[in-house]
Amino acid sequence: MTADATGDDTAEVIPGRPGDPLRGRHVVLGVTGSIACYKAVEVTSRLVQAGATVDVVLTRGAMEFVTPLAFKAITQRNPYTDMFDPSGPEGEAHVELARRADVMLIAPATAATLSRLATGLAEDFVTLTAIATEAPLLVAPAMDSQMWAHPAVQANVATLRDRGTRFIGPVEGRLASGRVGAGRLVEPERIVDELRVYLGRAGGDLAGRTIVVTAGGTREAIDPVRYISNHSSGKMGYAIAEAARDRGADVVIVSTVGLPVPAGVRVVPVSSASEMQTAVHRECADADVLIAAAAVADYRPASAADQKLKKSAGNAGMAIELVENPHVLGSTPTKSSRGTLVKVGFAAETQNLIENAVAKLNERGARMIVANDVTATDAGFGSDDNRVSILDDRGGRDDLPLMTKYAVGHAILDRVAKLLT
Ligand code: PMT
Repeated sequence: MTADATGDDTAEVIPGRPGDPLRGRHVVLGVTGSIACYKAVEVTSRLVQAGATVDVVLTRGAMEFVTPLAFKAITQRNPYTDMFDPSGPEGEAHVELARRADVMLIAPATAATLSRLATGLAEDFVTLTAIATEAPLLVAPAMDSQMWAHPAVQANVATLRDRGTRFIGPVEGRLASGRVGAGRLVEPERIVDELRVYLGRAGGDLAGRTIVVTAGGTREAIDPVRYISNHSSGKMGYAIAEAARDRGADVVIVSTVGLPVPAGVRVVPVSSASEMQTAVHRECADADVLIAAAAVADYRPASAADQKLKKSAGNAGMAIELVENPHVLGSTPTKSSRGTLVKVGFAAETQNLIENAVAKLNERGARMIVANDVTATDAGFGSDDNRVSILDDRGGRDDLPLMTKYAVGHAILDRVAKLLT
């Protein structure tokens, strides 16, 4: 924070979330002539919000659909539009850009662009830059389904894939022609997430590791329509999964909830504690880390009725007999095909937070336990934020302030990464 002569306080705000692999990266975004160009504006905005420096390069075709001004307004940088502009940067613009790029993305990429990339016919600013750069190239095609299916286009795609170009989509959906089929540009949020997946795997400290995360509250059936559960939304587990994905890990979420699946993450849906145990044991057999953020019911009805229980006067004082559930975290072996499985538990407490958490740490063979007070109104269940204490098996304790669940995920993973090395 600084104060100028007039007394105004100004804070230098670094955009993006710490831990986001796009933060501080230089992305060159090539935009080529498709009706889907308008989505490139949103891609640009999301990249800038993530903290990336974005240089946009537009072909003439792209400028028939969107103006350079739209990109300039978002990036605060002049887009590149004219290969022969004498007022451009010193040296050759495409070479300068190509050198600065950490990654190049072309979105949308037309059939003609794929053809030029495949053959090296660098006759527009976008393909010229793509051919000049040593940065990895990711391409998000957009075209009509018949064009996408054409053998010439598929041959170009195969050539580019062989050379290491990564494709993001296209996906099936409604096309500008009115048809429904494969050829639709992947949605901007997903395109940006795919860049995160790529960058995480290329340089993240958890690249090559497999991490299993549990998320959500288990559902213990009373009858076909009723169950016993709790207030867990799954947000904590999904945020950990996203953070682990951003650091390059292969991530599996064993989940009881239907939250949007983060790009690059695999979800195994389960419902009860027993199902979660089976899935976790299977997934952890080849994993490096288990992070148990799910709120697993300690008890379940001794038997679930086959048919819906009917309301009747005689049932007024009815009791449900409960039996103990298996302990998912405690029963997962600490050996896997990778060597030692690092187990991290959570403790959701309403009183004696630290004492109760320490007892759980010792009981479950975990290397760490993340304690959270679930009576807090600004953290815990359902919130986007959490306030946790991280306790380890060597007596260490860190009391962290209120932060986003994504940041909590990174705080846990910082410690996990040290244990893995
Ligand atoms: O999902 P959110 O809305 O984002 O909320 C996040 C959260 C509060 C649910 C999460 O941060 C949390 O605290 N999760 C653990 C909840 C819980 O079940 O705590 P516990 O103290 O009962 O269990 C201790 C540990 O053992 C946990 O890692 C739990 O996953 C595990 N457990 C518990 C019982 C059981 N039968 N099997 C288990 O594996």
